[in-house]
Amino acid sequence: MDINKYIPKYKCSHTNLLRLAQLSGEEIFEFLYAAKAMKKKFRVGENPPALRGKTVALLFGNVSTRTRISFEMGIRQLGGDFLYLPKDETQLSRGESIKDTAAMLERYGVSAVVLRGFSDANVDEFAAHSNIPVINGISDGAHPLQVLSDLFTVWEVKGRLDNLKLAYIGDGNNVANSLILGCSKVNMDISIASPHGYSPDRSIVERGMQFSNVDITDNIADAVRDADIIYTDVFISMNDKDDEQKKHILSRYQVTGAVMAKAKPDAVFMHCMPVHRGEEVAENVVDGPQSIVYDQAENRLHINKAALAMLVH
Ligand code: CP
Repeated sequence: MDINKYIPKYKCSHTNLLRLAQLSGEEIFEFLYAAKAMKKKFRVGENPPALRGKTVALLFGNVSTRTRISFEMGIRQLGGDFLYLPKDETQLSRGESIKDTAAMLERYGVSAVVLRGFSDANVDEFAAHSNIPVINGISDGAHPLQVLSDLFTVWEVKGRLDNLKLAYIGDGNNVANSLILGCSKVNMDISIASPHGYSPDRSIVERGMQFSNVDITDNIADAVRDADIIYTDVFISMNDKDDEQKKHILSRYQVTGAVMAKAKPDAVFMHCMPVHRGEEVAENVVDGPQSIVYDQAENRLHINKAALAMLVH
């Protein structure tokens, strides 16, 4: 399956975007082609008014730079309006049900909701009680928009997706889970190097193995051999408590220049950001010539706009 031979329809048959498990490889291509079109227009100062007259609620349970700004700017650029709703400032923080919250957003005319910092069970519960599109802007187990943006970035930089190898080094977290599903569904091989006890969700690994090679190891050199992309993320995810023991165990999994040197000579470095320089990645790698982290971060804007345009009607 070659994305460059795929003919996009610019359509999505889904109501919600909750996790990549729900998308086929072709459906992932649809989002990437839509993001490519959005980016092309953005570059020449054009933006389709896809959200004119619509309001999108951003119901956020944790802080954010990229997700919040790229959604707020993207919604404005598409001619829509947004409500930024910190979860702690709603009655959810005092025990109101997800069902009632979902009903209220819809009754007040909100056209879609982006949830961030919820558990996977709560994301599913919200979607089950909602008649408007629900988009997962990061949950405990998944970060679908991040990985759609990452795949779009790889396509731009490498010119293809199939027959590439991505090596993820570090904590087997929500980003790793979504990378496994996203990469495997577009026929990209993925290796994950994590210390024992910090590997990604086994059920997700088994799902990914149905589509491409998914290798799980604790050996960094094995993971990065022949890799086209080296990827890492923070050691402590946002909803997790600071954990010095975990940081100590993961400290051996820092992406250094020596790690990059074991991959292909034209390998690129990716990170979903925020970056903790000197922790999960050495400063000279994230700020070095192989790093494409700012392209990755910019592409969150174009993917978000593509997702909103495809889901909100
Ligand atoms: N990658 C990502 O989700 O960034 P923020 O936490 O800044 O939104």
